[in-house]
Amino acid sequence: MFLRLPSWVILALAMSRCHGCLEAERLALLHIKASINHHNGNYLPKWEDNNSADCCDWPGVECHKATRSVIALDLVYKRKYDLGDWCLNASLFHPFKSLTNLDLSLNQLVICTDDEVVENQLSKLRNLEVLDLSDNNFDSRVLLSINAWHLLEF
Ligand SMILES: *[C@@H]1O[C@H](CO)[C@@H](O)[C@H](O)[C@H]1NC(C)=O
Ligand SMILES: *[C@@H]1O[C@H](CO)[C@@H](O)[C@H](O)[C@H]1NC(C)=O
Repeated sequence: MFLRLPSWVILALAMSRCHGCLEAERLALLHIKASINHHNGNYLPKWEDNNSADCCDWPGVECHKATRSVIALDLVYKRKYDLGDWCLNASLFHPFKSLTNLDLSLNQLVICTDDEVVENQLSKLRNLEVLDLSDNNFDSRVLLSINAWHLLEF
């Protein structure tokens, strides 16, 4: 015997399925939060580690309306001065396959590894159209080399 569901139930089920953000991206955002707060910060309080949280509603996070994948991250001045320099680790952003806009300005970012490591990590952000690294603590040589192959391309 078939159970015939009223159409509003089916609609509600469908909506609950596309509500919320992708789990892999929610976890990746929490990794970014931990990195921003390294060693002892307590910033981004609304990015809560909570299974039922929709990370698309978090401040600074923009998701594609249909796929719910993260398309833009506005992380301007999230690393506050009291925490000191923040090592740029672009691998943190690799889980976001649909990311087109990434604003990391004003975060006291520095390069803690070789420039090539950072360039290699950044080159894997294939869909990125806008990357803002302005107003950080890079020395100008590093910023120039990143600019040369990536920023000026767009
Ligand atoms: C998890 O997040 C939801 C939605 O923001 C909230 O209603 C709920 O109270 C939170 N639960 C915990 C345990 O923080
Ligand atoms: C950079 O981020 C990746 C992905 O979260 C992590 O596995 C790796 O340990 C990080 N590297 C450093 C030097 O923190």
